[in-house]
Amino acid sequence: MTAGEPVVPPRSDRRAAPPTYWRVPFEWAGGRRVRREADLPFVGWEEATGFPELTQLVGSVLASSVDASDMAAVEALGPEGAAKRILSPPTGFSHRAEWWQLLLYGGAAVGFVLPVTFDGCARDGLDEATIYHMGVAPPDRGRGLGRLLLRKATEILVDHGIWRIHCDTAAANAPMLHLFESEGWARLPPEEHPVNR
Ligand SMILES: CC(C)(COP(=O)(O)OP(=O)(O)OC[C@H]1O[C@@H](n2cnc3c(N)ncnc32)[C@H](O)[C@@H]1OP(=O)(O)O)[C@@H](O)C(=O)NCCC(=O)NCCS
Repeated sequence: MTAGEPVVPPRSDRRAAPPTYWRVPFEWAGGRRVRREADLPFVGWEEATGFPELTQLVGSVLASSVDASDMAAVEALGPEGAAKRILSPPTGFSHRAEWWQLLLYGGAAVGFVLPVTFDGCARDGLDEATIYHMGVAPPDRGRGLGRLLLRKATEILVDHGIWRIHCDTAAANAPMLHLFESEGWARLPPEEHPVNR
């Protein structure tokens, strides 16, 4: 190639690059104490598995998410299809039924949290874990309920026994970044991820 010649591949070699977006990982190191404060008034908890409107609730959260993968999944599968997929994690993740919790506010289910462990990642008998997804129904955001969901999952996983909880969230998700940071999670360098449909 002659110096200065443009480095543009012939049209036939050009492929559209898959879309990507930035995610920010956060870590909760095992052995850290969890803040255990009383819930807000009107807040209750119930096991999520088997709750009749769970799919609908998860669908409404995904349909209003700023996460590019959530948006792509809703576009491809519809809110209910995307919710069903979230509620059936693939091989490699495990959880006990009682870990998946619904948050009730004034008796209505308005939030969910899905803590899981990674298979095959234990160290010294302690699991590595993550929060597979969590969310609050759009009309009930901004009341402190997301913070309660994050604390609930942390408590459940710490009580189970973990060497760390490793989560991430879209760089565009300002409330979630704020929740992780203000709850004392360690922020790690951002990573570029493909958009999953
Ligand atoms: C992220 C989500 C769970 C937060 O739920 P929520 O009930 O609104 O959360 P809370 O009210 O407990 O806390 C939100 C915090 O973010 C802050 N916040 C809101 N908008 C913000 C912004 N643009 N920049 C920075 N902080 C912001 C609020 O002030 C509040 O902090 P504070 O308690 O210190 O005042 C909710 O927006 C949601 O369900 N989103 C869609 C699903 C999702 O993104 N899930 C997380 C996947 S990792």
